[in-house]
Amino acid sequence: MLNIALPKGRLGESVYTAFERAGFPCPSILENSRKLIFENAEADVRYFWVKPSDVAIYVERGAADVGVAGKDILLEYEPDVYELLDLGVGKCRMAVAAPKGWRDNPQHTLRVATKFSRIARGHYAAAGRDIDIIHLNGSIEIAPILGLSDVIVDIVETGTTLRENDLEVVETVVPISARLIANRSSFIFKTEQIDRLTRELARESGGEA
Ligand code: PRP
Repeated sequence: MLNIALPKGRLGESVYTAFERAGFPCPSILENSRKLIFENAEADVRYFWVKPSDVAIYVERGAADVGVAGKDILLEYEPDVYELLDLGVGKCRMAVAAPKGWRDNPQHTLRVATKFSRIARGHYAAAGRDIDIIHLNGSIEIAPILGLSDVIVDIVETGTTLRENDLEVVETVVPISARLIANRSSFIFKTEQIDRLTRELARESGGEA
């Protein structure tokens, strides 16, 4: 049986539809319930809904054979998994943002608020810029408004959150999208199923395997 971890929420629901079309149906998942695990013995598949940022943990530790995780999570936590396919959905970007009109002063250490400390560190190390990371868990946009930081490094999708808080993008760090990932030993022991899933998803998403 193939165990699949999907990110809870709208992205996960559209990803399930793609998995269904790829030949891994589990109709009970569409029932509106609080259940988190769904199985279709006939199709030899079991799905579970997990917090998007936890998918990679389930897959890395083998509780799930495959899953769908954002590239942001893969870059930040570097889980020991195979990245099989860019699904071409959940597209957004990791960006540096600051209050409108903000200008960097290279004489000062830059204070960066973010949930993505590793990504932010890597970005500024490559630029040779001294920074002080302020690690937050959410509502990052508030930090520069209250003077806690100079800039933020965060996900920008529509740009609405930035606009509504009088912030603007300073630069893009990296484009983000949802990726199909696999546990390393599952990939060896369930090769045929995982290959078929990857191929079919690649065909319909036009993604890159
Ligand atoms: C993400 C991100 C931004 C927002 C960007 O937040 O951290 O706040 O979405 O989307 P937009 O450009 O379409 O406005 P999320 O909803 O994941 O919550 P959190 O980061 O505050 O936990």
